[in-house]
Amino acid sequence: MRSFAGRDILSLKGFERAEFEHVFEVADGLEPIARSRRNVDLLAHKTLVTAFYQPSTRTRLAHEAAMHRLGGHVVGFSDAKMTRAGDFYQETIKDTVHMLEYYGDVLVMRHFQQGAPHEAARWTSIPVINAGDGWGEHPTQVLTDLYTVQRELGTVDGLTFLCIGDMRMRTMHSMAYALTQFDAEMIAIAPPDMSLTDGFKAEIAEQNMTIREVGHVRDAIADADVIYVEPVVQADYTASRQERGEDVGQTPEPYRVTREVLRDARPGAIILHSLPRMDELPPDVDGTRHARYWEEAYYGVVMRMALLALVLGERG
Ligand code: CP
Repeated sequence: MRSFAGRDILSLKGFERAEFEHVFEVADGLEPIARSRRNVDLLAHKTLVTAFYQPSTRTRLAHEAAMHRLGGHVVGFSDAKMTRAGDFYQETIKDTVHMLEYYGDVLVMRHFQQGAPHEAARWTSIPVINAGDGWGEHPTQVLTDLYTVQRELGTVDGLTFLCIGDMRMRTMHSMAYALTQFDAEMIAIAPPDMSLTDGFKAEIAEQNMTIREVGHVRDAIADADVIYVEPVVQADYTASRQERGEDVGQTPEPYRVTREVLRDARPGAIILHSLPRMDELPPDVDGTRHARYWEEAYYGVVMRMALLALVLGERG
């Protein structure tokens, strides 16, 4: 297994099974700190830099909360408009990260351009963590998701993941890459204009995994152990920011996970959603035995604690 110390976390493509297992073990070791709401001094001598060129609630704050839980420091920006990258100068990623590496020891970047964190990693000597790049990937979210599955169901192997929503979504890409490393099935349900591309399916097939595609959540809900939901009514992930218009539209029934649809679900099936949600997952589902997205949000802090400790060399 490759060392995590000093390593960039840019993609789950090529992330090996033993690496998932190791990250989960490290997360297990740090989880009691988060559960008891303590702050320790493991990273007291380290600083996290957050560079968010797109809005975020969970990903940025979970990384920042994780850094505080481990006693570290945080600097950064949550709106590139307040930096030289977002004003008249349109400062390049190269020039910006050349600066940022002097301000801290690890960089967490979200960007509307696919591949921007990879570009950043070329020009900085500190580890770069991809916090979501355009439609590309969202590796820390999916590490969180699989860790939640591991904690809630005890295993990832042997499970069927029913993935509902826009398959262009960065979480869906990272999820498919990740599941190639497990004995797991992935079923996809998406509107035709948001379905998996042939190129992406071919890439996954090279890893000996076939994604089954069905048309309606009812066609597969009874097969699912993990119901993984994302919006189909959502923002343009290639834009730095998108305001809400007058009419945002409604999610068609085939892509909604409602209490009624869940009557056919397995009793032990769990629902994950990276959030934010629209109407694809109505709030009354929160009260069902299937909902695990708030636990997922909690494990999001634990997972970022593990990743920061690993890339900063404080866990082997
Ligand atoms: N899940 C997720 O990426 O949420 P944010 O956009 O709030 O970071």
